Amino acid sequence: MKSSFVFTDYYRNVVTYSFQDHPFSTHPKHVWVICRFHDQWLLTKHPRRGWEFPGGKVEPGETAEEAARREVYEETGAIVAELAYIGQYKVEGKSGSIIKNVYFATIDRIEQKAHYLETNGPLFLEEIPRNIKDNPKFSFMMRDDVLSLSLQYIRKYRPLSQPQK
Ligand code: GTP
Repeated sequence: MKSSFVFTDYYRNVVTYSFQDHPFSTHPKHVWVICRFHDQWLLTKHPRRGWEFPGGKVEPGETAEEAARREVYEETGAIVAELAYIGQYKVEGKSGSIIKNVYFATIDRIEQKAHYLETNGPLFLEEIPRNIKDNPKFSFMMRDDVLSLSLQYIRKYRPLSQPQK
């Protein structure tokens, strides 16, 4: 597998995704977490964007890993067991660029919560559909090559101990 890829996102912004160690920033402001709960994928239902893996912004005083665990809990109620860094991508938009760390997480416990802050809570999927780029149920974040490349990386390198399909 190559270590870096350039493509356009759903909004035609240029994305550079690299599997190297923090190639664009040692302190990225955004995180995205691909979550595995036993033999299912764990996503969240965003009220505007649609279905997506949890994630968000790193808060002041927090590390990116802390933000990853916090966002997963806030958006799904899941407590991350193990967290592995996968890569980092940069999106160059019209009004500036953002840099996001991608993680793979295993979950072994999920709490039922009364409120999920900005989302409508957890969503469990056995499979990520192949035609996701044409599926409006999914968030724009799920509809570019970041997802497919990340899943390819996870299948190939198995960054965490939990068995995957
Ligand atoms: P909030 O409303 O506070 O969440 O901030 P915002 O609307 O400024 O969004 P944010 O800073 O998270 O992102 C700015 C822009 O970057 C968004 O409008 C998106 O176009 C783009 N962006 C953010 N995250 C991603 C991502 O994961 N993938 C892609 N392709 N673009 C993203």
